[in-house]
Amino acid sequence: MNSFTFQNPTKLIFGEGQIEALKNELPVYGKKVLLVYGGGSIKRNGVYDDVMRVLEEIGAEVHELPGVEPNPRVTTAEKGAAICKEQGIDIVLAVGGGSVIDCSKLIASAAKYDGDAWDLVTRKAIPEEALPIGTVLTIAATGSEMNAGSVITNEETQEKYGWGGPQNFPKFSILDPAYTKSVPKDQTVYGIVDMMSHIFEQYFNNAVNTPVQDEMCEGVLRAIIRTAPELMEDPENTELRGTIMFAGTIALNKFLEMGYRGDWGTHNIEHAVSAIYDIPHAGGLAILFPEWMKYNIRKGTRPERFAQLAVNVFGVDPEGKTTEETALEGVGRLRSFWSSIGAPERLADYGIDDKNISLMAEKSSPGAPLGQFAGLEKDEIEAVLQNSL
Ligand code: NZQ
Ligand code: ZN
Repeated sequence: MNSFTFQNPTKLIFGEGQIEALKNELPVYGKKVLLVYGGGSIKRNGVYDDVMRVLEEIGAEVHELPGVEPNPRVTTAEKGAAICKEQGIDIVLAVGGGSVIDCSKLIASAAKYDGDAWDLVTRKAIPEEALPIGTVLTIAATGSEMNAGSVITNEETQEKYGWGGPQNFPKFSILDPAYTKSVPKDQTVYGIVDMMSHIFEQYFNNAVNTPVQDEMCEGVLRAIIRTAPELMEDPENTELRGTIMFAGTIALNKFLEMGYRGDWGTHNIEHAVSAIYDIPHAGGLAILFPEWMKYNIRKGTRPERFAQLAVNVFGVDPEGKTTEETALEGVGRLRSFWSSIGAPERLADYGIDDKNISLMAEKSSPGAPLGQFAGLEKDEIEAVLQNSL
C-alpha cells in the first residue's frame, strides 16, 4: 500500500433519541442558525418538530432555507449564502440527506467568499474559510455526513461536479436510524446501491498488498447484502435501518480508502448523466456500474480484482472457471442482487437514448482518461454508456 495521512474530524453521534445531543453540540458554534432542508419530508415525519424543539430550548435564532432539490442546485446554495451574509449566521444546520448536506457545505463556504459560488465547485477559487456545519441525517446513502465532499448541479450549464476541502467536514453529525424509517422504498434502494458503489469505487484501485482494506471493504459489502433484503421486508425495523445507516457512513468517510486512491470513474459518468437528465444518482449507478465492470473485465483491466470480489463477496465458486468467467459471474450476481431489491437496470428505464452519449462521455472526464484504476478513454466511456442503454 502507499503512504497516507488520515484525519476525519467529524464527531459522529449515532442512535435513537440522539437529537438531544444537539443541545450541547450546537451552542459551541453560536446561536444564529441557518436551518437547511429539502422538499418537506422532515415536516411530514416529525424530524423538523424535534429539531425546532431543541433549537427553541437552547434559545437559538433560527433562519430557514427550505426546498433544497435532490441533485442540489448552485442557485439554491447562493440563496443560502446570501442569508448567512445578511443575517450574520454562526452555523449551518443541514437536516436531510446528501443533497441537503452537500448544498449546506457550499452555503458554508460561499458565505465566506465574495465571488460566485460556482467558482468554488469548479476550483476557480479555493475556499480559505467557511462557516461551521452540523448535520442531522435522514437517509442512509452518500456518507456526506462524515466526509469533505459535496456534489452540486449547475442547471444553466448542465454540469454536475464534486468538489471538496477540509472546511467541508461537518463539525458533528447526528444519526438516528429511526429518522430513516419514513424513507420510501425506492430511495432506500438508491441508498443501498450508492453505498455499495462507494465501496466498489475504492476497492478498484491499483495498489498492491492491501489485505486489511480489502477485507474491510468485502466485510461491509457482505453486511449490506445480508441486511438489505431483510430491510426490504421489514422497513420499520430500527436495528436494520441502523445497520444500513452505519454502513453508508463507513462506506464513504475514507476509512476504506487509506493507502490508495480508488477509481471513482463510474461516479463521474453518473454525474454527467444526472447533470443532463436529472435522474437519481444511485439509479444511474445501478445501471452503469455493472456495465463498467464488464467492460473492464473483458478489456483485461486486472480481472483478478473483479474475480476476488466475485468470490469473497458474491460467493462465486472459482473451481474450473477462468479468472474472467469468475469475475463475470460476480457481476451477474451483483446485477441480480440489485434487481431483486428493485434497482433500475437500463438507461432506457429513465427514457434516456443514445442522443447525448458523446456529450456525457465528454463531461465525465474532460480531456483526460477517466478513473484512477481503469483510465478509460472517451470512446471507452461511450461504450460503457452504449452498453447501459
Ligand atoms: O427533499 P426531501 O423532502 O427531504 O425528500 C428527500 C428526497 O426526495 C427524501 N428523503 C430524505 N430523507 C427522508 C426522505 N423521505 C422520507 N423520509 C426521510 N427520512 O429522499 C429524497 C432523496 O434525498 P437526497 O438527499 O437527494 O438523497 P441522497 O442522500 O441519496 O443524496 C443524493 C445526492 O448526493 C450526491 C448525489 O450526486 C446526489 O446529488 N452525492 C454526494 C456525495 C458526497 N457528498 O459524498 C457522494 C455521492 O456519491 C453522491 O454523488
Ligand atoms: Zn455515490
